[in-house]
Amino acid sequence: MNVLARSWPSVAFRVITRRSCNCNAARFSTSSYIRKQEPIQVNGISYPRDDYTNVTPTILSKVARQLHLQPSHPIGILRSLIEAHFATFEAINTLSPIVTVHQNFDELGFAPDHPGRSLTDSYYLNRQHMLRTHTSAHEVEVFKKGTERWLLTADVYRRDEIDASHYPVFHQMEGAHVVPRSEALATFEASNAILEKKLSNANIVIMDDTKVGASNPYQDCHDPLLAEAATRNLKNSLNSLVLELFGGIANRAGAGEPLQVRWIEAFFPFTSPSYEVEVMFEGKWLELLGCGVVKQATMDRSSVPDKMGWAFGLGLERIAMVLFGIPDIRLFWSTDPRFTQQFKAGQITSFKPYSKNPPCYQDISFWLPESSSGFAQFHENDFCEIVRDVAGDLAEETALVDTFVHPKTGRKSLCYRINYRSMDRNVTTKEARDYTQQIEEAAKAKMGLEIR
Ligand code: PHE
Repeated sequence: MNVLARSWPSVAFRVITRRSCNCNAARFSTSSYIRKQEPIQVNGISYPRDDYTNVTPTILSKVARQLHLQPSHPIGILRSLIEAHFATFEAINTLSPIVTVHQNFDELGFAPDHPGRSLTDSYYLNRQHMLRTHTSAHEVEVFKKGTERWLLTADVYRRDEIDASHYPVFHQMEGAHVVPRSEALATFEASNAILEKKLSNANIVIMDDTKVGASNPYQDCHDPLLAEAATRNLKNSLNSLVLELFGGIANRAGAGEPLQVRWIEAFFPFTSPSYEVEVMFEGKWLELLGCGVVKQATMDRSSVPDKMGWAFGLGLERIAMVLFGIPDIRLFWSTDPRFTQQFKAGQITSFKPYSKNPPCYQDISFWLPESSSGFAQFHENDFCEIVRDVAGDLAEETALVDTFVHPKTGRKSLCYRINYRSMDRNVTTKEARDYTQQIEEAAKAKMGLEIR
């Protein structure tokens, strides 16, 4: 997979993902964790292991960090800023990252074969419990409490490749506004009047060619007038958030240049119509969030069938990287005071780089296991997981640099280049070599790779 093709952290589940759907692959890769039979302990709760267990100690060590709760960490600062913008919304910030597979997927209408469910894409404690892959996993429980306007910020977990903009843990904020149907038209139109006035006076260009129709419909159960008002309220609310967050930056860059925002039709199994929102930043469209009108099925499951409204989920790292000028996603996890002490609660300041340690490259070449070997099909995320488990945050990037098929045997070999670099210190060649050796050992044992 071309790791250069993507340059920003994940924000949304797409219908067709760039990953292949291989739901049963890589079950083998969990075997070494299953062998250690003790249950997994998180926040004092014990989870028995089974053939689905694929969380690693490295990943579980992130659960306690709670970056979004630190008032002077960029992620915490951004959270507070958005909470201040949606001042009447209730902030929910301390829900456990461990959810049931039912909450994360089934309850929201994800198909049984959705690629996001696969062991190569998500972290499972066991067949029932997983690390949430998105904050939408909490929609039903929050709506069930009767909360009508809320923002929920949390750490979310997805297995992924390794580079400067992808990290297996990142933060999302889910926001929602629902109202009893009998009040919905009046509520949304009153809000629309205020927001539309504000937006019409702002230096913002909103590009929106989206259409409501067969592929992205209003829901049958909604009066089209009401669905239209709710959809417009969703758009006005998010345009005004984007203006708040990025308006300053657009003006700083190009002296009076308008902020450009683009709406795109999307698909999520739990909203209709659904959209993604992008903002123009340094000449490129940057995807910020996914959103839509909440499906009636969610309202029904939450025992509030008479309510309707909208929800969105945005990726905080991606926005923070732009607003604070943070060049590498791993920096958010740094405990180096040269990073942590740069930021102050309530303020957006530009990150000042404090060191440029050189990268240290190492190549690993291996033959893929033969199909008769009993090992599952090779998946890059499994290999990256091993790299991450051995080298932690020192693994800056893992890139496929060569593929070779033996002309006689037809056997395939791959060469990956691992770039080790620390944000805080020099990585020695000896240290890098040791890591590479450990990665080779683990890849042999867990994935059946034959090192060349
Ligand atoms: N949970 C979705 C994601 O992570 C984003 C989303 C949230 C979309 C709420 C619609 C409504 O991709």
